[in-house]
Amino acid sequence: MTPGIRPFIAGNWKMNGTWRGSIALADAVREAAPSIYADLLVCPPFLHVHSVAQRLLGCRVAVGGQDCHAQPAGAHTGDIGAPMLRDAGATHVILGHSERRANHAESSDIVLAKCRAALAAGLLPIICVGETRAERDAGAAQAVVAEQLTESLPLGFVTAGGIIAYEPVWAIGTGLSATEDDVAAMHAMIRHRLVDAYGPAARTTRLLYGGSVKPANAAALLALPEVDGALVGGASLVAADFLAIARAVAAE
Ligand code: PGA
Repeated sequence: MTPGIRPFIAGNWKMNGTWRGSIALADAVREAAPSIYADLLVCPPFLHVHSVAQRLLGCRVAVGGQDCHAQPAGAHTGDIGAPMLRDAGATHVILGHSERRANHAESSDIVLAKCRAALAAGLLPIICVGETRAERDAGAAQAVVAEQLTESLPLGFVTAGGIIAYEPVWAIGTGLSATEDDVAAMHAMIRHRLVDAYGPAARTTRLLYGGSVKPANAAALLALPEVDGALVGGASLVAADFLAIARAVAAE
């Protein structure tokens, strides 16, 4: 953890869950939230954002989207604009997730445009960066992540409270998390570059780790320097696992 940064545990529910199941998951998180030190966020599929946000009204658990369009509104069949997410009760949005970068050909330019749209709508972006297995094996992991950071973050990102999630692509949904040394080295590089580019304000930018975070490895990952929380996929669908990860954060 970074001293002075409140830890942040985010659940990315991806394309999972019925309406009823999403409400039940939200209720379980809501009930446990008062006994958890970390700030919590859940990111349901678009369809359930409003219901989940209603269910979590007045409690400390925030709600986010998993993507947004770069335009606020218009003829974009099937897409969702950032102001719509805000209107539905979201306060955050995940952008540039590797599944979006891979399955929807999202380049860092597109992520940058979406990030600007999110900030304009008053949403806090969580920008995902991370290398593939081949890039890591080629010794290019840090260079790839550095380039994604340079290309995906707009001016104003840091002062607005934008969040970065380092998610090695090969660790997502595979059960293989990065080693503690690799995570620590990557997070140190990210912090260094952010402070270089944005100044001292970036010392308190939240840097999350994501990729097969589970109750068994959460405490060790979350204790690393410059790891201010986690972006949790699969394990966030099981309330007990998500809450166990959130409880693994040591209170300051
Ligand atoms: P995972 O997903 O926890 O299932 O690996 C993480 C993510 O995609 O954010």
